[in-house]
Amino acid sequence: MTTVSVFGGAGFLGRCLVQRLVSEGSTVRVAVRHADRARSALRSAGLDRVSVFAADVRDQATVGAALAGADAVVDAVSAYVETGGVTFEAVHEEGANTLAREAVAAGVVRFVLVSGIGADPESGSPYIRARGRGERVVQQAFPAATIVRPSAMFGPGDALFGTVAHLARLLPVLPLIGGGRTRLQPVFVEDVAEAIARILADPGTAGQTYELAGPKVYTLRELFEITLSLMGIRRLLVPVPFAVAEVQARLFEFLPNPPLTSGQVDLLKADNVASRDLPGLRELNILPKAIEAIVPTYLGRSHTGA
Ligand SMILES: NC(=O)c1ccc[n+]([C@@H]2O[C@H](COP(=O)([O-])OP(=O)(O)OC[C@H]3O[C@@H](n4cnc5c(N)ncnc54)[C@H](OP(=O)(O)O)[C@@H]3O)[C@@H](O)[C@H]2O)c1
Repeated sequence: MTTVSVFGGAGFLGRCLVQRLVSEGSTVRVAVRHADRARSALRSAGLDRVSVFAADVRDQATVGAALAGADAVVDAVSAYVETGGVTFEAVHEEGANTLAREAVAAGVVRFVLVSGIGADPESGSPYIRARGRGERVVQQAFPAATIVRPSAMFGPGDALFGTVAHLARLLPVLPLIGGGRTRLQPVFVEDVAEAIARILADPGTAGQTYELAGPKVYTLRELFEITLSLMGIRRLLVPVPFAVAEVQARLFEFLPNPPLTSGQVDLLKADNVASRDLPGLRELNILPKAIEAIVPTYLGRSHTGA
């Protein structure tokens, strides 16, 4: 039996992963900053027997406590907006480094870092650069670490279709950032969770980097159109240049749950599709599920009230 510490285990991906690991008999610990919130989220998902640790990847002492005795660690922590002491560098680079170093010190055998397609240590975007440097420092500190880079993830509660649907309910026109031409290869969140579970179970995946993408490539405009069609409503799609979207995102970032962040705008400046140079879901024997098979189950007309 394996003990896995999942940092960020109460998040969108983290919850699916915890569910998956518990179902196969692993002992799972969740490490997050807001332990009470995580306990209640996990309880609603029927995961009340998972232990929750209050830990912040920016605080070495709390990380060590959540790692002690673990066989494996998954870093599924996110920072989408910089506020106060939370910077992309502090969470995605320094935090990942602290986690990897502490994992080595604790004798952890497997380490999985969740990064993202497009991560680039030389990028001009603070978000994309921190993701790329995070991968680099983890590989240096824990050479057997496995890195997974998902494309945009979908599933109930996602920030992809969920955000477009939310905006469509509020606004008569929807902004198509960069003209909506960026290509994405969205991947089902449960396929990503399954991939991480298989990586943890297979020592042959140590030291590899996987790009996890769905079965089909869509433009951003097509994803907006799919959302509207599922909701059964029409909205005007208005192209918005990246420079304007950046200003909008900076203003949105003052909101508690911004519908758009500067990191997301930066990510949309390049296609977010699997490069085919790296292994992916196919090499893990996972048949990726299509948007068309999953999204209608949570975004159909009967779910939106449209
Ligand atoms: N969602 C996507 O479409 C997508 C696509 C590609 C890659 N990714 C990557 O996948 C990973 C998971 O993303 P997600 O969408 O599941 O994120 P999420 O829903 O925002 O969840 C993030 C989790 O991390 C915890 N967390 C945040 N800051 C922390 C810190 N300093 N120390 C410890 N825990 C912290 C949060 O709990 P607390 O707030 O209580 O700490 C939460 O449990 C991230 O690395 C993200 O960049 C996501």
